[in-house]
Amino acid sequence: MGFPRKNPLRLPIRIRLSISYFLIFAFAGTLLVGASWFMARRSLYFELDHEIGEHIDDVHDFIAAHRLGGDETRARAEIAAEFDLKDDGKWLEIADGQGRWVYRPWRMQVVPQDLPPASSIPSGGAFTEFAVGSKTVRALRRSFTADGRVWVVESGLTLTKTDLTLARFRNGLLLIAPAVLLMAGLAGHLISRRALDPVAAIAQEAQRIHDGNLQSRLPRLDTRDELAHLSSTLNDMLERIESAVRSVRDFTAHASHELRTPVALIRSEADLALRFDRSASEYRQAIVAIGAEAQQMSSLLDSLLFLARVDAGTEQARLEPVDAQLLCVQAWRKWRPVLREAGLRLTADLPSGPLMVLADNLYLSRLLNVILENAGKYTPGGGSVRLALAISGGGARFEVRDTGVGIPPQEQNRIFDRFFRAGNVREASAPGSGLGLALAAWIAARHQTAIEVHSEPGVGSCFAWTLSLASQLHAELSGGDAGYEVESARVVTVLDRAG
Ligand SMILES: Nc1ncnc2c1ncn2[C@@H]1O[C@H](COP(=O)(O)OP(=O)(O)OP(=O)(O)O)[C@@H](O)[C@H]1O
Ligand SMILES: [Mg+2]
Repeated sequence: MGFPRKNPLRLPIRIRLSISYFLIFAFAGTLLVGASWFMARRSLYFELDHEIGEHIDDVHDFIAAHRLGGDETRARAEIAAEFDLKDDGKWLEIADGQGRWVYRPWRMQVVPQDLPPASSIPSGGAFTEFAVGSKTVRALRRSFTADGRVWVVESGLTLTKTDLTLARFRNGLLLIAPAVLLMAGLAGHLISRRALDPVAAIAQEAQRIHDGNLQSRLPRLDTRDELAHLSSTLNDMLERIESAVRSVRDFTAHASHELRTPVALIRSEADLALRFDRSASEYRQAIVAIGAEAQQMSSLLDSLLFLARVDAGTEQARLEPVDAQLLCVQAWRKWRPVLREAGLRLTADLPSGPLMVLADNLYLSRLLNVILENAGKYTPGGGSVRLALAISGGGARFEVRDTGVGIPPQEQNRIFDRFFRAGNVREASAPGSGLGLALAAWIAARHQTAIEVHSEPGVGSCFAWTLSLASQLHAELSGGDAGYEVESARVVTVLDRAG
């Protein structure tokens, strides 16, 4: 992940973008102007050089056609007659192989130079530039053999027209370039303004959102670009924040509501007991009632605190081999007298020896307690509850079956929600706050399992879940994938025992 770069001038993005556009355009413009001028110059010089080359070819053809190689005087006369008239204005000098002048009109004599001997001229010829008065001449020197003699020719043209054309072209470019640059910079500024306007709109809208109007959303953009994506991402985030805040608010409201009832009952019970002088047994009765309410309140607080720790992420399950049979026996011992007092029979159908599962001991016994407590609470007197543990489908299956009031089908998928209580148990005014199964579901999820519910109103309910056997862990560890957080020494001990 990259770190944001520093912005020492603290300029807004809009200005920075405009400056960047301008600089990029300026750089590209300069490059383009330079390249155009260079190409135009090359092309003009190419034409010029081509014309000069053709002129020398003309001279060659003329000498060859008129066979001027033998007679020097005739050569001078015929060349002068031909080129004086034909090439008035063009630069032309002709010498023989030894550097003796054959043709040098008076116009060319302003430049006091002799033509070099043929041997010193490269085979393709050589270009030179020199001043003649206020003008510059570009000339090509070339030597060739025609009619049996070596000739040296220098032909040239003034650069006046070419330079003038180039100067005009350059001036035109220099005149247009700043205007184009200014327009490009302005367009860049407008484009960046247009591009960033939605960001300003999003920021403005985001500033208006606070915890009191979390249901508001940022403008939905139909542009299908990054800004539309940003806006919808922020809206999704708001959705999640809203639902988190709503659940915290609901939780607080439910919790305070649930706590109000036992506190009110304790207060009224105490007020009533203190209003008149009472007998010892009446005081005892009041204290027992207060104690029961305090017990109810303390278990509620316990559940609330547990769920708060779950939400804060501080509750962590630590899976290790646990004897499920022993845990069931302990639960049976704990709940049998309680249920018997309520007129219920608790039976247990367990394996004869230890059955090692992967679990968090405390959490698993808490899960068993929640389910057994519900079974006892929602089964009318005379009914029965059966706790079963068996190996099934490669795991250890726990099952608690009661002959209780059952859960209406349309409410079965909500019983794991916090504070939810089915209509039939609310009507029967059984105490409870609807937190037990939320807790149980969390514990099951920490054990990579889920609680199944089968229930029929008036017939009974069955809650079941399956845990991995500790021997499965051994297989997974041998395969190189531990999967669970387990101290290996303990696994060995357990496997020794299991073996
Ligand atoms: N064995 C059962 N038979 C019938 N209904 C049940 C049974 N177990 C759970 N329920 C239904 O599911 C609801 C939620 O159960 P849960 O244990 O979460 O809350 P509770 O028992 O009402 O309160 P507490 O927080 O004290 O446990 C119950 O109110 C009840 O309607
Ligand atoms: Mg319960």
